[in-house]
Amino acid sequence: MSQPQSDALVFFGATGDLAYKKIFPALQSMIKRGHLNVPVIGVAKAGWNLDQLKARAKDSLEQHGGLDPAAWEKLSSLLHYVDGDYADPATFTALRKELAAAERPAHYLAIPPSLFEKVIEQLVQSGSAKGARIIVEKPFGHDLASAQELNRILLSAFPESSIFRIDHYLAKGPVHNMVSFRFSNSFLEPLWNRDHIESVQITMAEDFGIQGRGAFYDQTGAIRDVVQNHIFQVMCNLAMECPARKDSESMRDEKVKVLKAIPPIDPKDLVRGQFCGYLDEKGVAPNSQVETFAALRLQIKSWRWDGVPFYIRAGKNLPVTCMEVMGRFRKPPATNMTEPGTTQNYMRFRVSPEMTVAMAVSVSCPGVEGPRETVELVASRHPCPEEMEAYERVLGDAMAGDATLFARQDYVEEAWRIVDPILKASTPVYVHEPHTWGPKEVEQNIVPRGGWDDPEAGEQEDFRIVNSPNSLS
Ligand code: BG6
Repeated sequence: MSQPQSDALVFFGATGDLAYKKIFPALQSMIKRGHLNVPVIGVAKAGWNLDQLKARAKDSLEQHGGLDPAAWEKLSSLLHYVDGDYADPATFTALRKELAAAERPAHYLAIPPSLFEKVIEQLVQSGSAKGARIIVEKPFGHDLASAQELNRILLSAFPESSIFRIDHYLAKGPVHNMVSFRFSNSFLEPLWNRDHIESVQITMAEDFGIQGRGAFYDQTGAIRDVVQNHIFQVMCNLAMECPARKDSESMRDEKVKVLKAIPPIDPKDLVRGQFCGYLDEKGVAPNSQVETFAALRLQIKSWRWDGVPFYIRAGKNLPVTCMEVMGRFRKPPATNMTEPGTTQNYMRFRVSPEMTVAMAVSVSCPGVEGPRETVELVASRHPCPEEMEAYERVLGDAMAGDATLFARQDYVEEAWRIVDPILKASTPVYVHEPHTWGPKEVEQNIVPRGGWDDPEAGEQEDFRIVNSPNSLS
C-alpha cells in the first residue's frame, strides 16, 4: 500500500562527519533523479549560520562524488539551518518555524544514540513529532538491554510504522540480489538446505584501519560495528524462507524467523583479534581489549539449516576489502567414479567490491591427464555502485514510507540477543599483524571444513552464457 510522502527532511547532526561524507552526496543524487523537492533542514550545535552549512555542503559534494551545478543550485535553495543545543526548547521552536506548513516531516537522527531521548522529547513537546517519521542511524544500542531502552524511547513517541532504523547494507543491490537470485532460479532452492550444504561462510574484510574513528570504534568493536547488523542482514537474506508476499512486513517477518532460530553464540565459538598498531590510534584506550577482528560460528536451528554451521569473519586491516559469501556443498560420495582431486562444489555471492554470483564445479578436460580442475560458472559479475547510493536509497525509501530496507524492533532485539553473551564474556583478544587474516587462533578454533574462502583467489575461468546479450565475453 503506498504511503504519503514526507513533506520535509530534518537532519540532526548536519555539521557532522556522516552528513559530510554521505548525506549531502545522497541529497544531491536524489535531486538529480528528481526525488527531492521538499525543504531540507539541517540541525546542529556548531555556532554556524546557513551560509556556513551551505559552504560545508558544497565542499562535501566536491570531495565526495563531485558537484553537479544544477543539482547543487536546487539543493542550496532547499537547505535551511537551525543552530542550537538539543536540550534547549528554543532550538525546537526555531525548527518548528522552519518547518512552516510541513505536516509530515522525516526527522533523521544522524547523532549518537545517547542524544535520541533528548531530541525525541523536544520533538514531541514542540509539536514536530506529530505525523512525522523518524530515521535512526546505527549503532542501534550497544547490547540487548540498551536496544530495548532505545526502542522504548522511540515507541513512546512514534508508531513502529514511522520508525526507520538504518542498516545501509540492506540498500546494497548485491545484498538484495541474494534473495532474488535464490527465489528466481529453480535449480538452487532444492539444494540450498541442510541436505546438500555443508557450511556457509561470510567474510567481511577491510584492508584499511579505523580511519580516525578511534573514539567511536573503541566503544564499539567489530561485533557491534558490522556483525550484529550488516553481516546478520546478509545471513538472513541467505537463510530466510520465501516470503508469502513482497510487502515490507512479510519480508521482515521471514528475517526475524531466521534470527529467532539462532541460539545465543557460545563464547567458545568466537575468536577475537586486534591488529597490531590499533592501540596507537587516537581515541583508543591504552590497554584496549576491543576487537578489530572477529571469527565466529553459529547455528540456525531451523528445519532448513539445523546442523549446518555458519561461519562469520570480519575485520579491519585485513589483506583485502571484500564481502563474500560461500555456501559449500557436501562432498560427492566416494565411488569408483569419483576421481581424485575432486573438490567440493560451492555457491559464491560476492557483495563487494564487485557483485559476483558463481558456482564452482569440478571438471576434467578430455585427453588431458592430471587432477581435475575447479572452475566457476559465473552467473553474473558487475561493478558495484558507490555506497553513496545506499544512503540515497534509504533516505528516499524512508521519506516514501517504505520500511522494507529497515530493521524492525523485533529484528534488532533478536540480533542483540544472539551476540549478547559474546559481548559480555571478555574472551581474550589476540594481536595479529595488519594485512593478515586475523590471529593464528582462528585457524586452530574457528575454521570451516575445507578451510576459509580466499577472497583474493581471483575469479576463476568462467563458462559463457550462450545466447545472452550480457554474455561476459
Ligand atoms: C559501517 C561501519 O557501518 O560500515 C564501518 O561502521 C564499515 O566500520 C562500513 O567500514 C562498511 O560499509 P561499506 O558500505 O563501505 O562496506
